[in-house]
Amino acid sequence: MTIVAIISSPQKNANTEFVVRTIGKSAEENGKEVVYFDINGMANRKGCQACDACKKNGGKCVTKDDLTPLIDAVKDAEGVIISSPVYFGQPCGQYRLFEDRLYRFFGVAPENGIAPGKKVAVVTAAGSGGADELADRMSGVLVSFFKFEPVGKIAMVTGNDRKYAENNAEIVAQAKAIGKKF
Ligand SMILES: Cc1cc2nc3c(=O)[nH]c(=O)nc-3n(C[C@H](O)[C@H](O)[C@H](O)COP(=O)(O)O)c2cc1C
Repeated sequence: MTIVAIISSPQKNANTEFVVRTIGKSAEENGKEVVYFDINGMANRKGCQACDACKKNGGKCVTKDDLTPLIDAVKDAEGVIISSPVYFGQPCGQYRLFEDRLYRFFGVAPENGIAPGKKVAVVTAAGSGGADELADRMSGVLVSFFKFEPVGKIAMVTGNDRKYAENNAEIVAQAKAIGKKF
């Protein structure tokens, strides 16, 4: 079983991506396989179409796009690393597409949904504030709807410095410690 690592920021190699990759590397050092998905880099990505086909066909999503392998991978994963920058107090749109596509696992037979107890670590970054609240909101969705088990949170206030996390030894140490929890 693998760890699914989700990058959603459009800023390449900036704060949230750096921390996700640091957690991932640490998990790999611990013997885990980590698979990365960069939502912003997906050319063809759609939101949930609310067609409810998944409620009639055993949890399958009839929307096929670049997000499909990511959503499939979450079902099989041992855990996930989720991340988003704070955009107007919310997750960025790229991350919201991922969240809504989890609808295929909601309200379906247990074998077609997400098994409870998968681990989740959350990473957020804000220029000036709201990172902590966003992190709780993002992991809260996975915990309340899909019974994930939280294993770590990194919520940064970056001052819009793209290299804030990379230059912060405490955050790097926290990220490495979270990776070992997978
Ligand atoms: C569209 C947009 C909206 C933003 N909204 C907020 C906000 O509401 N609050 C805030 O503190 N920072 C906001 N920011 C700043 C980012 O959250 C901040 O630069 C963060 O470090 C980006 O994460 P990243 O380095 O992983 O890309 C916004 C940035 C953009 C581009």
